[in-house]
Amino acid sequence: MNSPGPGTIIGIDLGTTNSCAAVAFGDGQVKLIPYKGGDSIIPSIFAIDDKGNELIGHEAKRQWQLNPRNTLYATKRLIGRAPKDDVVESVQRSVQYQVHAGTENDVAVDCHGRAFHVHEVSAKILHKIRDVASDHLGFKVSRAVVTVPAYFTDRQRQAVKEAGRLVDLDVVRIINEPTAAALAYGLGKQLTERVLVYDLGGGTFDVSIIEIRDRVFEVKATGGDIFLGGIDFDNAMIRHVLDGFQAKHGIDLSTDPVAMQRIKDLAERTKIDLSARTEAPFSIPFITMTSQGQPLNLDVKFDRKLLEKLTHPLVDRTLKIVGSVMVDAGVTAADIDEVMLVGGQTRMPIVQERLTRFFGKPPSKGVHPDEAVAIGAALYGWSLQENSDLKLQLLDVIPMAIGLEQAGGTMHVVFPRNAAIPNAKAIAATSSEDGQTELVVRIFQGDQAETSGNELLGEFTFSGVSPGQAGEARLEIVFDVSIEGILTMSARDLDSGRQMRTTVRVTSS
Ligand SMILES: Nc1ncnc2c1ncn2[C@@H]1O[C@H](COP(=O)(O)OP(=O)(O)OP(=O)(O)O)[C@@H](O)[C@H]1O
Ligand SMILES: [Mg+2]
Repeated sequence: MNSPGPGTIIGIDLGTTNSCAAVAFGDGQVKLIPYKGGDSIIPSIFAIDDKGNELIGHEAKRQWQLNPRNTLYATKRLIGRAPKDDVVESVQRSVQYQVHAGTENDVAVDCHGRAFHVHEVSAKILHKIRDVASDHLGFKVSRAVVTVPAYFTDRQRQAVKEAGRLVDLDVVRIINEPTAAALAYGLGKQLTERVLVYDLGGGTFDVSIIEIRDRVFEVKATGGDIFLGGIDFDNAMIRHVLDGFQAKHGIDLSTDPVAMQRIKDLAERTKIDLSARTEAPFSIPFITMTSQGQPLNLDVKFDRKLLEKLTHPLVDRTLKIVGSVMVDAGVTAADIDEVMLVGGQTRMPIVQERLTRFFGKPPSKGVHPDEAVAIGAALYGWSLQENSDLKLQLLDVIPMAIGLEQAGGTMHVVFPRNAAIPNAKAIAATSSEDGQTELVVRIFQGDQAETSGNELLGEFTFSGVSPGQAGEARLEIVFDVSIEGILTMSARDLDSGRQMRTTVRVTSS
């Protein structure tokens, strides 16, 4: 077996709750990178303890019940988001750390009296994964393929690349999580199949329909919700428990961060238990005290049926998205050869049962739900290496339309949803005022007709327009979306042939 050496591109699945890394060897074998004790999962958690020590992964998770305000988890839901999003508010309701607007039109989170940009937290986790991988492999890892939810916008992808830059990790390529899982499943099997990847992780839901033709992996359509994952299943349980406690004792536990953290922990464990058994107790001794100083216990019985009832709307949402992605791809259930399950939350029996009913056949067990994404990323990393003989082709799509704002605040779509990438398009533009020397365009991503409902990717200012009368300038703006789903823009003055200078500013409009 050819062993990997410096310059190796590892694969990293940077998950909402768990991260995982893998490396491919010269002969196409892939190994997960184990952490101390053999576990290959690193919890995506960053904390600072009361002595000021930074803790990442298992060390951070071990102390989170006692230090809930300074333990940052599930921050992936906030990366690359604008603070105006209702996102901040809804995340704040379910976490014990402080979430607020950042200084770069982004979201910041507080830990031990310090404000962090969300991508700085991702950088800490990447740093840890890189260290673990370097220790294991015996050389300093400097390059990686990192996966993101297919439903991530350009800004979210850029933020992940930026996180890598902060810790000197060259993120050579960003690829989509479901696409990576399909690679792990299909590479080297000489398949001709149409697969649907149903990826329900801790924080996000993605679905992609992918046609595999031997070494060509072509995504036909994708969809998802970056606010739909295991955490929401936990939250549905937590709400039920809190309401019950309030009704019985008249005490609202949601204002007590330590109690909340204990409940959250137990909710997830009980949920996981209920995938294997049909009943589970939900008991926490001394959760709080009465106003007379009497200790109170939390004692509820949970069964699988109750969990299924509480989370029914969440599973419904996933199936609705599956349906609309099939419409986008122009296929019916009968056209799908395999349904692949990815993500820990797909272990819940009802998820599998409902998919079986939906497709008329059980989902495939072809990939490991926790490992497939990192494995696919490692295989892709190997194919990009200079010394690689692995040839494969990934053809992906953008999850939401990209376009520019036109007068009146409506969206002029340049690339529709599910446009194939890489892709470039030129559009003609002109000056709207006499003597104009600059052209400003505001670029948005999203599927709403009004730009106000979409995500602002940036305001591009092109300078060097030859001054003349309104409508005289002949300009060409080129939109280029890379294989990673990241947009770059350029513009030319067609009369002078001059390339115009670009500056990009993400404003907080
Ligand atoms: N046996 C199980 N039954 C139900 N849920 C489970 C089970 N095992 C794990 N989970 C849930 O799966 C989720 C974690 O899944 P996973 O590790 O795939 O997510 P992730 O990769 O961190 O997140 P994402 O892909 O959304 O960024 C957690 O919410 C966890 O509670
Ligand atoms: Mg995942």
